[in-house]
This record gives sequence, C-alpha cells and structure tokens, in this order.
Amino acid sequence: VQAKHNAIRESLGIPEKAAPPDPPVDLSAKIDLLLDERISVLSFGLGDPGQELVGRCRSLGIKTIAMVSTVADAKAVEQAGIDAVIAQGSEAGGHRSHFQKPESPQKGAVGTMTLVPAVCDVVSVPVVAAGGIADGRGIAAALALGAAGVMLGTRFVATQESMAVTAYKEAVLRAGANDSRISDAASGRYARLIENDLLDRLEQAPKLPFMWQSSAVSDILDEARRRNDGGMLALWAGQSSSLINDLPSAVEVVSRLMDQTRQVIDSLK
Ligand SMILES: Cc1cc2nc3c(=O)[nH]c(=O)nc-3n(C[C@H](O)[C@H](O)[C@H](O)COP(=O)(O)O)c2cc1C
Repeated sequence: VQAKHNAIRESLGIPEKAAPPDPPVDLSAKIDLLLDERISVLSFGLGDPGQELVGRCRSLGIKTIAMVSTVADAKAVEQAGIDAVIAQGSEAGGHRSHFQKPESPQKGAVGTMTLVPAVCDVVSVPVVAAGGIADGRGIAAALALGAAGVMLGTRFVATQESMAVTAYKEAVLRAGANDSRISDAASGRYARLIENDLLDRLEQAPKLPFMWQSSAVSDILDEARRRNDGGMLALWAGQSSSLINDLPSAVEVVSRLMDQTRQVIDSLK
C-alpha cells in the first residue's frame, strides 16, 4: 500500500512512508463525551447504533437519528428505538450509510426515489429523505414520497461558509450528474466522490479496511488541501452537483429552498 501511495506522495512533494498507517481513532470515548455533554440530538451514520446506545441517549433526553440505505436497516434502527430515520439514496455525496459494506459499489445502491417510500412503508418514526436533493423541486418530491423532512449535503459544500477549499467548491460547480462515482478508495467504505486523478490512482492501489484507509491517505489529502489541488483532493459530492451552479451563502440557500418548495407545491394544487 505504502509503495503505491508513495508514488502519489512523490507527485505532491511530501515525504514517503514505509511504516503502517496510524490506527483509526476510537469513537467510543467521543460518544461518551457527547452523552456527558447532554447534546440535544445525536445522529448516526454508517452503522446500527443498537438498542443499548439508543436507550442510553433516550434516558438522558437526547433525541437520536440514524441514516440508512436499505429497508432492512431502517427496520433495525426503529427496533433499536431510534426517533427518526434518514433514508439515504445512492445519489448522495459522501459515504453510503451502509451498516455492512456491500460486495460491490453497485450492490445496495438504491436511489432516493425508490428508497424513501419503501422506508416510509415499514417504519412509523419520521423519515428524512437524503440524496440528490438540491432545490425546491427535490424537496417537494421528497415530501410527496412520504418524507417528513430532507437532508442536503452536496448543496452546502458550494456555499460561502463551507470549509471546503476553493478547488473543491469549483469542482462541485463544474460537475455534471455523471461525473461522480461510488468508490471505497478514500476511506475503505463506499462513498460517492467527484472523479479526479486521485480517485483513479487510489483505486489502482490495494485498499485497507474502513478508517485504516482514511488514516493511510490523510497526509495526501492534507497536502492536496494545502495546495488547493482539485486533481488530488477527495471531492466528496453527489449527483446533485449537476444542479448546483452558484456559490451563495448558506442562509440564501435555505431561503431559496423554502421559496422554491412552496412554489412547486402551489403549482401542483
Ligand atoms: C462533503 C460531505 C461529507 C459527508 N460526510 C459524511 C459523514 O462523515 N458521515 C455520514 O454519515 N455521511 C456523510 N455525508 C453524507 C450526508 O450525510 C448525506 O447523506 C448526503 O450528503 C445527502 O445527499 P446529497 O449530498 O445528495 O445532498 C457527507 C456528504 C458530503 C457531501
């Protein structure tokens, strides 16, 4: 792994590595901290929080949300006592919220249009739609599918306040619907990213398990950010990049989304 990654490091002018990557951070201590702080909502992705943890949250008055990508996982988190479910379709940017890594990126890649109503049919807690929504049309559609709310990620990457470096924001503005793919090269679990040189090169190298892979590539990603090098960044973003053509403030995005959604719903009456 390091030999292949060293070729990438060389092109970025950063030191080679021979030692194994640092072990991933242990999340359990962080969860204890969140519970100690009595945060109001704890939202989980990429795994089943389970009955014990959800129960601990409930007893502390902390609301819980879990993001799922299959009907079976939605049922599992409802059984664990979750307060709301996010149904994440495969258009979504960033990590696919699978509980188990599927055997291929295509397996388990169910789109929002199909997943949201299917999840609404099997759970009685509120369902939030995620994946591919970037404007009021998408929100109105999600509400029509039975969602109680929506979650947008990619749209907010391209905002003034977003901490993404400029080249990342520009890549989102430039990308079409066909310019991203689902890959496990950036973290070891499947995620949707805009295609670039880095993704191609990481895919040619052996991949490590989840989090170990993130740890292995962290120096490469840090340097790419420092250089603002769009070819070497991890460009976490979804298919809705094709709907995003400007760089407003986050407030402007939210106000537009609300206006557009009202207009679309009114136009359907
Ligand atoms: C830049 C970025 C980072 C993300 N990071 C995470 C993450 O760390 N954990 C997670 O569960 N989901 C993550 N997601 C996925 C979002 O939670 C959400 O499902 C997705 O953005 C919704 O789809 P959209 O990108 O089409 O709006 C990320 C998404 C983006 C765009």
